[in-house]
Amino acid sequence: MRSSSAFAVYPLILLSIILSILRIAVSEGGFCSAPSILDTDSNSQQLYWKVTNPTLSPSHLQDLPGFTRSVYKRDHALVTPESHVFSPLPEWTNTLGAYLISPAMGSHFVMYLAKMQENSKSGLPPNNVERFIFVVQGHVTYSNVSGINHKLMVDSYVYLPPSLEHSLKCDTSATLVVFERRYAYLENHITEQIVGSTDKQPLLETPGEVFELRKLLPTSMPYDFNIHIMDFQPGEFLNVKEVHYNQHGLLLLEGQGLYRLGDSWYPVQAGDAIWMAPFVPQWYAALGKTRSRYLLYKDVNRNPL
Ligand SMILES: *[C@@H]1O[C@H](CO)[C@@H](O)[C@H](O)[C@H]1NC(C)=O
Repeated sequence: MRSSSAFAVYPLILLSIILSILRIAVSEGGFCSAPSILDTDSNSQQLYWKVTNPTLSPSHLQDLPGFTRSVYKRDHALVTPESHVFSPLPEWTNTLGAYLISPAMGSHFVMYLAKMQENSKSGLPPNNVERFIFVVQGHVTYSNVSGINHKLMVDSYVYLPPSLEHSLKCDTSATLVVFERRYAYLENHITEQIVGSTDKQPLLETPGEVFELRKLLPTSMPYDFNIHIMDFQPGEFLNVKEVHYNQHGLLLLEGQGLYRLGDSWYPVQAGDAIWMAPFVPQWYAALGKTRSRYLLYKDVNRNPL
């Protein structure tokens, strides 16, 4: 047994040592942050880096056979990166694709990731199918028959009306998220090619909500869907617990949070994709330490009847 006087002094010394260690740990940006070679400052500056370099799962579960956060239900699905299966995209050259949402789930559109490799080229969608492409990594060169090229960097996008001949080429590597849908024609309306980038789109009013909203396509009648970019600061959440006739395809580009789909609550992070069928109750709260940003497909401007 220790003498009682020594016993009284040690806790004070110990406490001050522990406090100074804690101060160092906190000032270095995280007491419990898992050590990672790749997760450095330079990466956090690179937009959407986490989409192609996701945290696969908590390290103690990463090697657990059969563990995945992915879920597939009648009215929603969560597809997380450890479940991605890439295979050559038919029609494209040197490009691997992973379909994350398709009509087999009940959607009227597809959403897929396309990984373009060295000297790759896109193929065309089927006739009467419109296409939306958003760059999440690398860059590609877009051109149509006019011969004018556009260099599309991370955060830029292009909308292709149905049956518009076009190509995307890549010399090095690029990752795209692609949406395609059989265009719902309306008499006397046609859509036009649109090239743009998120940072050039104005912030829109969101009455009753706190998130920041940008729309990447015109809201006019010819367009039968739109792509929203929604930003939440940590702690912000949707006010409306939405239930609506529209369907959604979502890719979380940045951040972490909690997604409610029906009666289930899912922790989600950058790189996760979500399918929401019409009328599935849906709600999001941003958590973590950085901004949440997601990209969202939504069908609009057509009578659901
Ligand atoms: C082809 O691209 C050029 C340059 O972006 C554009 O001005 C033109 O309208 C496009 N053609 C069609 C048919 O959309």
